[in-house]
Amino acid sequence: MVGKDRKLRLAVSALGLGLGMLLAQGAAEAADKVKVGLMLPYTGTYASLGNAITNGFKQYVAEQGGKLGGREVEYFVVDDESDPAKATENANKLVKRDNVDVLVGTVHSGVALAMAKVARDSKTLMIIPNAGADELTGPLCAPNVFRTSFSAWQPANAMGKVVAERGHKNVVTLAWKYSFGEQSVAGFKESFEQAGGKVVKELYLPFPNVEFQPFLTEIANLRPDAVFVFFSGAGAAKFVKDYEAAGLKAGLPLYAPGFLTDGTLEAMGGAGEGVLTTLHYADGLDNAREKSFRSGYVAAYKAQPDVFAVQGYDSAQLLAAGLSGAPAGAFDKEAVMKAMSAATIDSPRGSFTLSKANNPVQDIYLRKVEGGQNKVIGVAAPKLADPARGCKLMN
Ligand code: PHB
Repeated sequence: MVGKDRKLRLAVSALGLGLGMLLAQGAAEAADKVKVGLMLPYTGTYASLGNAITNGFKQYVAEQGGKLGGREVEYFVVDDESDPAKATENANKLVKRDNVDVLVGTVHSGVALAMAKVARDSKTLMIIPNAGADELTGPLCAPNVFRTSFSAWQPANAMGKVVAERGHKNVVTLAWKYSFGEQSVAGFKESFEQAGGKVVKELYLPFPNVEFQPFLTEIANLRPDAVFVFFSGAGAAKFVKDYEAAGLKAGLPLYAPGFLTDGTLEAMGGAGEGVLTTLHYADGLDNAREKSFRSGYVAAYKAQPDVFAVQGYDSAQLLAAGLSGAPAGAFDKEAVMKAMSAATIDSPRGSFTLSKANNPVQDIYLRKVEGGQNKVIGVAAPKLADPARGCKLMN
């Protein structure tokens, strides 16, 4: 017969065992989760870009049954407001306070440069779903910093050749004055001038200023053959409308990286028709992934996707590839990074791989706005890799 004391001891130890098992199970679940920090603009001129990236990322996760590489995804979200002055503090909230496994962000290059510094210093894995500053996969490249979008150089350099081939000699450029605008102009100028053209004037206005009128007057007075611009988001829609309203559209061809017309055509209300742009994506590309992605996006969000949604989707795909190639259990950053570097991403843009600098090697399409869509009319630069000047990982 078991004594009263012994019964009590058995009961207590059974309870302890149960509790221990529960705790162990909880720890395993926590370890199996992946903590994703989304740092994106949800307000301001780039708000629609931040939302599209978020939608695309979550669409891919939903398609995998709510998991990436078999892990539940826990999100931590910060609105970066496209404000470089707040970027370090915002990134630190995700890295130090929330202890995320991966930082996903952002749209604005100035903000991304500050984020990347936090990522490098803390050795946090970072996936850039848009920002194109050349430095990010150039002199500031790092093994833990990946980009699923583009460098400023890629679409701009492809456009320089197109504009030269179309017989234009003198071009005026106009862009927001910050790293991405300046580097887009530099990338364009490099190939355009190599092909015999001349950038006769570089005009800039502060980000996110949309008082375009004085610049349009100056452009008209300069009488170039064509105009090359960088604008995006709400500011891009206003620019293209103002360009048409100023009477410039009919006689002065407008060229740009495709950010000008992606996600903005509806807001332009027809003013964008006919504009030629270069980008690593176009609406309705002829591949199976684009078809399933587009129909899934429309079903989930009741809106057409754009390049930003694609980049969000592909960021989730890249992370999934990393996690699938790493052991289960605690987040093994080195193994995740290795699998990410080796991944081929089956993207709606067409499949792509990453360069040694962790930037996509991808086709840059020539697109034309037709019937409210960015239709592909050719490949301006096949399998274009950023030169990654100054990146130590290239050697
Ligand atoms: C950037 O700041 O890198 C940037 C912003 C908006 C775009 C493209 C690039 O559409």
